[in-house]
Amino acid sequence: MNALDIHLLHDAAPEHFPDGFVWGVATSAFQIEGAARADGKGASIWDRFCRVPGAIADGSTGDVACDHVHRLEEDLNLIATLGVNAYRFSVSWPRVQPGGRGAWIERGLAFYDRLVDGLLSRGVQPYLTLNHWDLPVELQDAGGWAGRDTVHRFVDYAVGVAARLGDRVSAITTHNEPWVIATLGHETGEFAPGVRNRQVAMQVAHHLLLSHGLALQAMRDAGCPARLGIILNLAPIVPASSSEEDAALARLEDGRLVRWYMDPLFGRGYPADVWAHLGADVPCVHESDLAAIAAPMDYLGVNYYSRMVVGAGSGPDQLRAGAEFTEMGWEVYPAGLTELLLRLQRDYPVPPIVVTENGAAFADEMVDGRVRDPARTSYLARHIRAIADALVLGAPVAGYMVWSLIDNFEWTRGYTKRFGLVHVDYATQRRTLKDSGCWYRDFLVRCRALAQPAACAGSKSRP
Ligand code: FCB
Repeated sequence: MNALDIHLLHDAAPEHFPDGFVWGVATSAFQIEGAARADGKGASIWDRFCRVPGAIADGSTGDVACDHVHRLEEDLNLIATLGVNAYRFSVSWPRVQPGGRGAWIERGLAFYDRLVDGLLSRGVQPYLTLNHWDLPVELQDAGGWAGRDTVHRFVDYAVGVAARLGDRVSAITTHNEPWVIATLGHETGEFAPGVRNRQVAMQVAHHLLLSHGLALQAMRDAGCPARLGIILNLAPIVPASSSEEDAALARLEDGRLVRWYMDPLFGRGYPADVWAHLGADVPCVHESDLAAIAAPMDYLGVNYYSRMVVGAGSGPDQLRAGAEFTEMGWEVYPAGLTELLLRLQRDYPVPPIVVTENGAAFADEMVDGRVRDPARTSYLARHIRAIADALVLGAPVAGYMVWSLIDNFEWTRGYTKRFGLVHVDYATQRRTLKDSGCWYRDFLVRCRALAQPAACAGSKSRP
């Protein structure tokens, strides 16, 4: 055992986690599926955005991606190899209901049947996300998330998917990271659909929340037995200096990233400071909307990658001097995950929290058929340890999922950033488990081993 292994064993200890803890890996449809126009699948706003010159770093598309649709069995076997007890995936709306309204495509639905049944037969709980950003283009052309009609289309889609798969999946999440859709998709325009208008962005955020609440209610009314929730990207926001100006900026950013979503989801309406700051850009909110948004959730998904440091000055960032950064330029800051989980528990009446994404991109190299990626292993081990710390301090954490199962299409970075536990050679679609994947697999073996002896000891003690 080398020094790094000893360090890791110390960092992430299986005995800190209760039996039944959810251990998973996550992906999303657009990033891995490929088969972009197969079997009558429609186009999504990301299919279109990839064609905008300069939008994607390497000029790539999701047309083939990891060819997951055609390699389902192989990928299911990879999931089983890791020994996780949960797998998070998303349904591509245009694959099952092209255009986002009307007829359903049986072959699209049948693909997700095979995925769900394949997981269950391997002892893996399916965690389904309804919207991981790939809105049908026809709905975008009819107003997209800025229009109220899309809210109703989404509710119909949610009920349709729940009717087909809801009896077999453990959990259904409405949206993945509404802040990203609203802010990066409609305010800065970096992401699809590439709109740059703050007023539109805030209306989009409101419609995403509203559609979440209405969909939860509709799925429950239809008798869906799965646990229902939403996934937010959250982070501690830290002022870059001790100036009052930076403190105010940090408070506002916290309002826009955390409280703008958490407050209405937990029945408090929109935060007054952000509302005042937005001026004429506040969204149009109908009378019953806030009650709908606050529909009770069975679990909350939280995606965590790093903390956010904000400041008005342009000088060097003293706070992060000497810090580690991933290939995305994101600071490695595991303590932020503990802080965040404790803060959510302190400030809100949260249901069980599942960390639905956490992981890192590094410049992996395949040498002699092997990817040695100790930096990723160390990142994961330290974040798992951060969750153990939060659990000890009383945060209601029920699960953890690594982003991602396999290298995939990383949005505007195309295929240039690799987050997978499994390496993908895009020329051949060959999959290779990285060292970090082996480490996660072995860590989960130890978790299971710990769960076993208690039962054995119990039966041995009987006369
Ligand atoms: C999250 C996204 C996920 C992936 C990771 C790196 O914001 O939900 O699809 O791109 O970032």
